[in-house]
Amino acid sequence: MTLATAPPAALPRVFDAGAPVALPDGRRVPVAALNNAATTPPLAAVVDAVVAMLGEYGALHRGSGPRARATVDAVEEATASIERFLGQPEANTLLFTTNTSAAINHLARLLDLGPDDVVVTSEIEHTSNNLPWRHQSAAQVVEARADDAGALDLGHLAEVLHAWRGRVRIVAVTGASNLTGYRPDLATLASLAHDAGALLFVDAAQLAPHRRIDMAASGVDVLAFSAHKVYAPFGLGVLSLPRAVLDRHPVDPGGGSIDMLASDGSVLWAPPAERHQTGTWNATGIVALGAAAAAILDAGWDAIEAHERALTQVLVNRLAAVDGVHLTVDPARYGVEDRIGAVPFRVDGMHHALVASALEAEHGVEVRAGTICNHRLVRRWVGADDAEQARIEAAIAGGDRLASYGVVRASLGLQNTGADVDRLVAGLRSLAAEGPALRYRPAPAQECWVPGW
Ligand code: ALA
Repeated sequence: MTLATAPPAALPRVFDAGAPVALPDGRRVPVAALNNAATTPPLAAVVDAVVAMLGEYGALHRGSGPRARATVDAVEEATASIERFLGQPEANTLLFTTNTSAAINHLARLLDLGPDDVVVTSEIEHTSNNLPWRHQSAAQVVEARADDAGALDLGHLAEVLHAWRGRVRIVAVTGASNLTGYRPDLATLASLAHDAGALLFVDAAQLAPHRRIDMAASGVDVLAFSAHKVYAPFGLGVLSLPRAVLDRHPVDPGGGSIDMLASDGSVLWAPPAERHQTGTWNATGIVALGAAAAAILDAGWDAIEAHERALTQVLVNRLAAVDGVHLTVDPARYGVEDRIGAVPFRVDGMHHALVASALEAEHGVEVRAGTICNHRLVRRWVGADDAEQARIEAAIAGGDRLASYGVVRASLGLQNTGADVDRLVAGLRSLAAEGPALRYRPAPAQECWVPGW
């Protein structure tokens, strides 16, 4: 089955769909953008909102004239759209950061956990939902296991929560994996976390662009995501968390976080939501994300989810049928589980980064290659034993990032069509059968291959 060459008209329109790119051989072709899990293109509605806002741009929270007022209004309207997009619980408020990683680091510092506290996370987390807990808190970090297809072992999660009962402060899990597309059921996780007396935090960086979120209905206490994966530009992260967590001094104090510096040197902090957002906010980013959220809600999740589910099946089935291409997750799992369209694979005999470079340079197809921030699952797939792992670590420490094992990942966005999948499949058929048409030199520091000598 091949889908239409244009996304359904009911879906929000992206700004740059079909814009051509120059290939090294001089051809200009439209990009087949299949690296949406890294970055999505902006929606047309986002570009319109940003252009309109920049025309009457004033000092946010630091002025009282008409332009300052218009900026405050635009930010407040956008914030309300983002809250609706999340189904944010009444008890929560939003903090704006620079991206999901910054939001999780901020959260880990805000919670101020001690050595007797436990954070339960899992083996399938993006490194941004693992390292902050290890490096920004004194808590003990315990991980629930996953199977080879990257699905959480809920039985093991329940055992872990039972074993650490009374000490678990937060269960921090992904809402959708950036590598395998796996999605845990959030209501089940919330019930497990709450039974253990813990908060549930969801890293929604990959969930937010693909599936309806309703924090209040599913029992999610804390959630983070990034604008640049939800069809708005780079530079904005969102953290939705209970106001009660903010009832403390800020971890990043500075301008905007205080109302008065008292004569004895003590500080009268600003109200909680302002106290924790030091410096002038990214008003443009907030307006952009608000416009994306509103456009998605207007189009309706039913249409977006239906389009993505159908295209995910096409992608998986077509990739699985290419000789020399191996999906690292059993393709059947995409049929029986409602995974988002993130599909990892390998090509026989070709370095993962060379596959990605050749797809871009020769076919105009964008994908991502590497360990994709999920080192342990990828290591499991390639079966690197300890000796091999030690050899790879030494080579990387010496500057050779291409020494790493890895996979290639194709990931879908709402602008993709069956024609994009066709382009990927045609490129892979040609690479698997004949190898690259151009010559490439390794660029170990950038973990890629560059066409030409
Ligand atoms: N975590 C993002 C990805 O999966 C950057 O590509």
